[in-house]
Amino acid sequence: MIRLEHVSKRYGNTVAVDDVSLEIETGLVCVLIGPSGCGKTTTLRMINRLMEPTSGRILVGGRDISTTRPEELRRSIGYAIQNVGLFPHMTVAANISVVPGLLHWDKKRIARRVEELLALVGLDPYAHAAKYPSQLSGGEAQRVGVARALAADPPILLMDEPFGAVDPMTRERLQTQFASIQQALKKTVILVTHDLDEAIRLADRIAIMESGRLVQYDTPEVMLARPANKFVHDFVGADHALKRLSRIKIGGYVKPAATVRVNASAQEIASALGGHRWGWVVDEAGRPVGWIDARDLPSAASLSEAIVRADTDEIAVARTATLREALSRMLGNGMKSIPVIDGQGRFLGEITLRDIETATAEAEP
Ligand SMILES: Nc1ncnc2c1ncn2[C@@H]1O[C@H](COP(=O)(O)OP(=O)(O)O)[C@@H](O)[C@H]1O
Ligand SMILES: [Mg+2]
Repeated sequence: MIRLEHVSKRYGNTVAVDDVSLEIETGLVCVLIGPSGCGKTTTLRMINRLMEPTSGRILVGGRDISTTRPEELRRSIGYAIQNVGLFPHMTVAANISVVPGLLHWDKKRIARRVEELLALVGLDPYAHAAKYPSQLSGGEAQRVGVARALAADPPILLMDEPFGAVDPMTRERLQTQFASIQQALKKTVILVTHDLDEAIRLADRIAIMESGRLVQYDTPEVMLARPANKFVHDFVGADHALKRLSRIKIGGYVKPAATVRVNASAQEIASALGGHRWGWVVDEAGRPVGWIDARDLPSAASLSEAIVRADTDEIAVARTATLREALSRMLGNGMKSIPVIDGQGRFLGEITLRDIETATAEAEP
């Protein structure tokens, strides 16, 4: 557990952090968010003693960190920052090895750990371990930064805009990957961002700051539904209901739907549709590859002419996706229902716009 008690930080007349009290439970992701200059970085850097508070105190695991030597403290706290801060003259492997090296791990153990971490963050160890930072893309460098922060398996991870310096697509991939790593590792994470969508996606708790003060500390659901004041209200914006959808997984909303094999006979199609007008068409492997409208069947010269073909990746969503992703897929394709697939791309059922409307109404906490 991490606890901030009435923590303030002043620089001359500037109050960077103003009487912040905050408790972060073990194993949860707390996202610090707020406009530029509101004190996020300063708050974070006081937790690993890169900065000292002017007043107040910080406890990690029940212990006042001002009584812990900074080097010792930082062994239990991984730190990843925007623009990564990799050492340019050191290879990827050497960068990741810095902390294990300081801990005097033997060479074999360090090498194993480097491999393990690169694989964890989705980089091929053989292709990347010997590279230098200048030979990496922005997204790869960010991943190495995260791997380095995790190197000595610290229970706590501080991340300052870790996905800030990459393009939106890469950013989304890194967020997804971070979420799955966190699901497995259950670190206590404090992540700084100014991107609300990122916060809503990754946070168990959101701490929103304004001019050095903590203005609300809540779950994303509560923050969106009941902003504490006008500042939070304006910050989270008007589309609360939509934002909440990115907190809800599709899983519980998947419903069975009629499917037809690509090579089915007219009779098989009729019985598969069983009176329904629409059916999803699946290939031999069970992947949705289009749909069929029963009304097109009589006039079509052949079955394959009646099938509206589509790319699985373009129409379908994974069961692990969120309702927000499903909605944007529907809007993007102009379809009121879309197929849901498993990890192998196989058809599991469908989700409809109506389900999303229902979920939006139910999501009020
Ligand atoms: N070393 C410093 N000296 C003087 N002022 C600083 C220093 N670091 C930060 N500040 C000021 O403290 C405030 C909070 O900064 P910071 O924590 O970096 O904000 P954020 O990360 O939310 O953008 C800002 O007004 C900033 O200008
Ligand atoms: Mg900052």
